[in-house]
Amino acid sequence: MIFNDSILDILAQIEDSSFDCIITSPPYNVGKDYEKTKSLNDYLSAFEPVLKGLKRVLKESGSVAWQVGNFIKDKEVYPLDIYFYPLFKDLGFRLRNRIIWKFGLGNLGMACTPSSDLAGVMKPYSGLARAMITLLI
Ligand SMILES: C[S@@+](CC[C@H](N)C(=O)[O-])C[C@H]1O[C@@H](n2cnc3c(N)ncnc32)[C@H](O)[C@@H]1O
Repeated sequence: MIFNDSILDILAQIEDSSFDCIITSPPYNVGKDYEKTKSLNDYLSAFEPVLKGLKRVLKESGSVAWQVGNFIKDKEVYPLDIYFYPLFKDLGFRLRNRIIWKFGLGNLGMACTPSSDLAGVMKPYSGLARAMITLLI
């Protein structure tokens, strides 16, 4: 079944404890066409009802793979998984793994972050700023 709607509207239609596994790549707050960049706090707050909804529709034995990137502001890198972790923890999730995907500079520049934000921050081929991170919880 494929739903094409806002996540909160979709979650409202789903019964409790429906899923064994949820894999998601939510917006990263990096100013893509489908999102409006917010402060980190506002971005994280906006996800609180989503995380609660995911918890509700997940079976007690279930897992979430939460794929996020790095938010960059004023030449500082904020790895989003670090900020999401306590939100999941407060809901009773337990971290099982942290997967860091390392890939080339071009991908980050195009997909995640205006490259000018990284000028002076990222060295060519340094690993950190090019990582995408998945929390498995
Ligand atoms: C980081 S991208 C992930 C893209 C996906 N992994 C792919 O390969 O197409 C985030 C996705 O979330 C979608 N999105 C943004 N806000 C949403 C919302 N409120 N409900 C559902 N999806 C949303 C965007 O349209 C975008 O496709």
